[in-house]
Amino acid sequence: MNDFKSLKDTFTLSNGYKIPCIGFGTWQTPDGETAVNAVKEAIKLGYKHIDTAAIYGNEKSIGKAIKESGINRDELFITSKVWNKERGYKTTLKAFEKTLNDLSLDYLDLYLIHWPASVNQFKDWDNINLETWRAMTELYKAGKIKSIGVSNFMPHHLKSLMETEIKPMVNQIEFHVGFMQEETFKYCNDNNILIEAWSPLGTGKMLDNNTLKEIANKYNKSIAQLCIRWCLQNNTLPLPKSVTPSRIKENTEIFDFVISDEDMKKINNMPYFGGSGHHPDKVNF
Ligand code: A2P
Repeated sequence: MNDFKSLKDTFTLSNGYKIPCIGFGTWQTPDGETAVNAVKEAIKLGYKHIDTAAIYGNEKSIGKAIKESGINRDELFITSKVWNKERGYKTTLKAFEKTLNDLSLDYLDLYLIHWPASVNQFKDWDNINLETWRAMTELYKAGKIKSIGVSNFMPHHLKSLMETEIKPMVNQIEFHVGFMQEETFKYCNDNNILIEAWSPLGTGKMLDNNTLKEIANKYNKSIAQLCIRWCLQNNTLPLPKSVTPSRIKENTEIFDFVISDEDMKKINNMPYFGGSGHHPDKVNF
């Protein structure tokens, strides 16, 4: 198990690049003042890693928050993602420039393909993913992105990419109690691809579960804290989202307890009780 002690501690990606162990999630964080304030608060509280995406529509606000916080760029790890409409070689290169511009940055720490092109959407889905990947690889080699990866990819989407020169270093997937995507989890662990957990709190759906409440009480922690810690102990990188200062702070206070093996097993065995319902091969966006 990783022995993380603070937000500064890191996982090491397959290319040797370090990634701070908790990312501040910004999906569904409204653009404008809300996003600026949330990100500034997170940076003030010590978060070193911020996760966004072009489709979240808040990149400009995040860029503003980074600038206003006055923190050195090299103390932060910034991730963004290329949206589905921009898949392909040239369009990905263009989308990346826009993202960089909107964030007012001159490099990204991590860039991801947001969703795989899937068999239900495109006959040549595999080729589309490879062309998008070719652009990502080129940007990576040019030093404009320090690490590259994918999001919402299942093993059959990953297979071709794993046969290219530069392999994905990260797969950001929906991962929370009751929804561990075992097959993808195993494939990524076997292939040295770090799993990042989006919606580690199940977009809030985990937070009134009685079993989790009982376990969290034992450690004097909230369910949110238990869920975040649980991700880390499963060797995945949680990306909790909040716009509420007290919760942004609460979600960092997870380094002073260890979930026992017995409780980990119990939580890992909990059945599905809610999630986004999005299946990468079935989504229509
Ligand atoms: P808010 O942003 O209004 O504070 P996820 O990261 O799984 O997508 O979950 C995000 C949801 O969980 C948001 O609705 C967020 O609310 C809420 N949330 C985040 N942290 C906590 C917490 N510590 N306690 C309760 N709710 C939380």
